[in-house]
Amino acid sequence: MPEKYKTPKIISIANQKGGVGKTTTAINLGASLALVGKKTILVDFDPQGNASTGLGVDPSRRKVTMYDVLVEGAAFSSCLVETGIDNLFLAPSTTDLSSADVDLVGDRGRITRLKQSISDFCDKNYDIDYIIIDCPPSLNLLTLNALAASHSVLVPLQCEFFALEGLSQLMLTVRQVRDSINQRLVFEGIVLTMHDKRNNLSGQVESDVRENLGALVYKTVVPRNVRLSEAPSFGLPGILYDKSSRGSIAYRRLAAEFIRREQSKKPSKPLELKDNE
Ligand SMILES: Nc1ncnc2c1ncn2[C@@H]1O[C@H](COP(=O)(O)OP(=O)(O)O)[C@@H](O)[C@H]1O
Ligand SMILES: [Mg+2]
Repeated sequence: MPEKYKTPKIISIANQKGGVGKTTTAINLGASLALVGKKTILVDFDPQGNASTGLGVDPSRRKVTMYDVLVEGAAFSSCLVETGIDNLFLAPSTTDLSSADVDLVGDRGRITRLKQSISDFCDKNYDIDYIIIDCPPSLNLLTLNALAASHSVLVPLQCEFFALEGLSQLMLTVRQVRDSINQRLVFEGIVLTMHDKRNNLSGQVESDVRENLGALVYKTVVPRNVRLSEAPSFGLPGILYDKSSRGSIAYRRLAAEFIRREQSKKPSKPLELKDNE
């Protein structure tokens, strides 16, 4: 009998809107968890490869990618690369991944391919605490694969006028995935990003979102902070690029809140919007 390893918790960072802070959250939450000793794999599941670039893994180091895992059946373990940060590993992507949708047409199990490869990996391995999947800005086959493989979904919402727009579509998709292929799927939480305290609108959006979505919204709010946006061009998570920046402090707080919430093990209710549906 093989020794039984712990099963990682798998979290999709999803919102079909682009530019809301998915990748920034995936990188900085992942790095913050790694920093407190949690072994974490960040799956770059967006063909833009921003999470790979943002962690300083340039294309020459992306020999085996998530395309090979998803489409060619390469082992998940074979694509993992070190990030230079203890406890943080990356499953990289390149633009190849954009053709996965087409390349998997006709494959009847195409929505569960990621789930299957991660599950094969977990059977063998490796004492990983978290697998964080950075989703593309679309509810496409890639996002469906991510949701099918996950225990939970964490949604970044940008503090702007249309923050809640599109959320009902995401919720519907999550419900459909839960009702069909992944009964365990719940909402992990909602994180407000790019909050600007000098801007009244940010405050209004925050109270609106809290009123609609209640306890699911993390207390920690990520401010708009230029250090977070500079960090990727240095191939570093914002939390390490400038440890004392407000963005860095916010993401480390978010990780602490994330862990606390998990430990309190409150059952997660299905998410419903009160208004704005
Ligand atoms: N809190 C923040 N403050 C300032 N800039 C941010 C913040 N979060 C993200 N950004 C920047 O906004 C852009 C979009 O963020 P990103 O995380 O790539 O969004 P997504 O993955 O949802 O498309 C990037 O240029 C990123 O550096
Ligand atoms: Mg992104």
